[in-house]
Amino acid sequence: MSNDLIHWRDEHVSILVDLSGPALPRILHWGADLGHHDDTLLEELADTVDPQRVSDETDDLVVATVLPLESAGWVGEPGLSGHRSGRDFAPKFVRTDPPEIEETDDVRRITVRAADAEAHLELIWTIEMLPGGLVRQRNRVTNTGTSTYELTGLLCAYPVPSNAGELLDLTGRHLRERTPQRSPFTIGAHVRDNRRGRTGLDGSILTFAGAPGFGFEGGEVWATHLAWSGNHRLVAERAVRGTRLLSGGELLAPGEMLLEPGQSYESPWWYGAYGDGITEASARFHTYLRSRPQHPRRERPVTINTWEAVYFDHDLGRLKALADNAARVGVERFVLDDGWFGARRNDRAGLGDWVVSADAWPDGLAPLIDHVRGLGMEFGIWVEPEMVNPDSDLARAHPEWILSPGGSRLPMSWRHQQVLDLTDEGAYQHVLGQLDGLLRDHDIAYLKWDHNRDLLEAGDRHGHPAVHRQTLAAYALMDELLRRHPGLEIESCSSGGGRVDLGVLERACRVWGSDCLDALERQQIQRWTTALIPWEMLGCHIGSDSNHTTGRKQSLGFRAATAFFGHFGIEWDLTKVDSETLDDVAAWVTAHQAVRPLLHAGRAVTGDHPDDQLWVYGVVAQDGGDAVFALAQRGTSLEAPTGRVRLPGLQPDVTYDVRPLVPGNKVRGTVVKAVPWWDNGFRASGAALSRMGLIAPTQYPEQAVLLRVTRAEESS
Ligand code: DGJ
Repeated sequence: MSNDLIHWRDEHVSILVDLSGPALPRILHWGADLGHHDDTLLEELADTVDPQRVSDETDDLVVATVLPLESAGWVGEPGLSGHRSGRDFAPKFVRTDPPEIEETDDVRRITVRAADAEAHLELIWTIEMLPGGLVRQRNRVTNTGTSTYELTGLLCAYPVPSNAGELLDLTGRHLRERTPQRSPFTIGAHVRDNRRGRTGLDGSILTFAGAPGFGFEGGEVWATHLAWSGNHRLVAERAVRGTRLLSGGELLAPGEMLLEPGQSYESPWWYGAYGDGITEASARFHTYLRSRPQHPRRERPVTINTWEAVYFDHDLGRLKALADNAARVGVERFVLDDGWFGARRNDRAGLGDWVVSADAWPDGLAPLIDHVRGLGMEFGIWVEPEMVNPDSDLARAHPEWILSPGGSRLPMSWRHQQVLDLTDEGAYQHVLGQLDGLLRDHDIAYLKWDHNRDLLEAGDRHGHPAVHRQTLAAYALMDELLRRHPGLEIESCSSGGGRVDLGVLERACRVWGSDCLDALERQQIQRWTTALIPWEMLGCHIGSDSNHTTGRKQSLGFRAATAFFGHFGIEWDLTKVDSETLDDVAAWVTAHQAVRPLLHAGRAVTGDHPDDQLWVYGVVAQDGGDAVFALAQRGTSLEAPTGRVRLPGLQPDVTYDVRPLVPGNKVRGTVVKAVPWWDNGFRASGAALSRMGLIAPTQYPEQAVLLRVTRAEESS
């Protein structure tokens, strides 16, 4: 292979990188597979990519390299920005070494070193292609001068072609995370700046550019994601000279990244997934996440979380009764939520004091943990290690451990809490010691790691901006606890789904999608969260029949079918549920357990059903032989009866048996109008199911049915 032109192909995607010349590399193509090209063909191809010259432009051609800069004529969002006391504001990098190209079974990697000898900066750019055709890149900048260099921005960029005429990114709020928004990709920059100090409930965990109208099943699409849990900038920019870039990186506060002589800054990974449709792009993230050694391999234990069952009312008798009923319905992990420590009888006090409350738990946690373990369940517990209530022993003893803008002023309070300065060694060691002690003294398999506020005006005790270092310190704290307690699992929660990113997911094995358990809202939250992560990494619980955050009343069938695909659980006071309903819940747990290996290893697929009130999605086994689908009727449809629904992702030439997945149509509360095949199922080819579709049952709004679709046995 030519060392100037690197062409990687995997799973229907190609990336072609030009490493020629002294300038920084260019990505000449990232998208659909170009097929095999030998060196000669590649060179011919590379010779054709530059546009012709037009009027009123630089004498040399302006090309967007992987770090677009003014020195190369780029006048859009700069790849790198910074200065040295107002000088060295416009660097120009020249390559210093031959590129390093590594190819192993796990990863393909290019590393390029460059420098600006006059601005005294060094740059290392890295790009990788990962299992499943996912790509990622990052930059490392080093100050080689003798004075301080302030780095104010460092973005990585992917070029997308001109048929990427539409943008889709995500926004949201507490209780309504992952709301999609589409817009035309017009000239200018669509910028999503985040100064929340966390990924954000409104954070765009994916930015898509695609062919107008792209959907889940088709339409070329380029998806990007930043693996970072702190402040960030995401930019989709289109320039009049025909360049379209998707860029992302950390958003640095003034003075936050002062590089002293010899110091470096490394950006978070900026991921890219190309697909013919969102499902294909998402599959690249899923394949990669599943390929990592830390990905959870054992079956995801069905979980009960106590939050919406008891809130802060920690009463041993009540919680034991909850555990009894949880065990009765088949729960495998019991998670004690907020309220077990310090003076935490409500959300105004105690945060930061990670010692078991003698008031709430006079005999400690052992009586509950022993009871839970005796019932055959694992025990998990809630913590919020980065936070502190001013009304806590910790804040009283160490007011200097609270992040603030400097001076005597504290940032605005949020849920009556402030942020503990984990960049302070004393604070870090204190919270590490308390959590380590908690885990050493108790039989705890799982931490629900919460983070319930934005980081406003977050400076350390010297008044320096701290979000970057705080984010790394939170990662380090998780890493250290995982190192000290092998087998421990961590869930990333942040007011619900406020910290969902591949940075925290290097150490957390699942995320909490939202504080909203309303199944209708959850349909949307889950659809877009699983566009990034596979189902087994998303906690999905059956909530109460009368929802606590929306007031909607929903059937068990809809709530359970909605939670069914994910890391399944319950967040509902089962002590107030009658025996018949407990049996129904148990039937759902059993049904989930029966298909859990399929749901958590198969390919997630989403259909583009033309009626947006009826969502069709499922998981198909990697060999195409088995599948579960959901038909979720969200609201009322204009047309009734429902008519044909196509099932995506099946093998066209395989014959399948289709039948309702019990108990989806059996338990009380789900209303399904009979369709001719409902009782006995039917047999059809994958081609017929995906092209002609099946007659779907007409459902009331806020109902869902599940279908099991299995390869037909030859003999039957
Ligand atoms: C926010 C979380 O998302 C909830 O599930 C719950 O753990 C509360 N915090 C507890 O304070």
